Amino acid sequence: MNELHFKQINHLTEKHYQLLLDADPSRKIIESYVDRSTCLIAEKNGELVGIILLLPTRPETIEIVNIAVVRKKRRQGIGQELLQYAQEWAKARRYAVLEIGTGSTSFGQLYLYQKNGFRIYGVDIGFFERHYTEPIFENKLRLKDMLRLRLRL
Ligand code: ACO
Ligand code: ACO
Repeated sequence: MNELHFKQINHLTEKHYQLLLDADPSRKIIESYVDRSTCLIAEKNGELVGIILLLPTRPETIEIVNIAVVRKKRRQGIGQELLQYAQEWAKARRYAVLEIGTGSTSFGQLYLYQKNGFRIYGVDIGFFERHYTEPIFENKLRLKDMLRLRLRL
């Protein structure tokens, strides 16, 4: 039994929050969307390996506001499978558009999202400067802007 299992959960524990913090360093911002989102998790051998939060934003549109895989399990295809599961989940509930926002310095994530068919449609200039009190550095760059991507389901 080495397969991934996905399920929706309604109660998040500290273990889930720790994982969400890997994708979004602000607990305050996580708290602003977590209660309004659907939480899907991936488990392997009964252990939490990944998490994804989906927030309905506009009619027929749902956004992945957080996606994270346990550090030791990254680069093994779990993120890809979580994205595919989220797509199927949203499609089955008649959403027409899946959105995601990510840092302009998040090169690996941008590769993963574009490999899955997401296309860039906009930039939220200065998002990470406006909403985060601590500077964020990634790939030796100061993160300032958020790239907005979308996928038609
Ligand atoms: N750097 C370089 N390439 C990457 C990275 C990375 N950080 N992450 C994924 N990739 C590439 C891999 O090369 C892989 O392609 P390949 O197999 O053809 O080489 C492809 O993307 C798929 O990778 P997976 O193994 O499916 O992805 P993984 O299980 O590692 O999960 C994730 C990706 C969720 C981004 C993980 O790295 C993670 O938890 N990172 C920390 C949290 C984070 O940054 N979350 C996204 C923030 S944006 C948001 O939450 C809305
Ligand atoms: N992939 C990844 N990283 C790169 C790349 C690349 N293709 N090109 C440069 N970098 C990074 C390097 O890692 C380096 O960072 P580091 O030292 O911290 O690791 C940094 O950028 C600077 O690299 P240089 O050695 O100064 O850049 P180089 O002399 O290689 O020139 C250039 C870069 C002009 C893009 C060259 O790769 C090239 O001629 N590419 C083909 C033509 C091209 O793509 N031009 C740009 C198209 S857009 C336009 O023309 C308007």
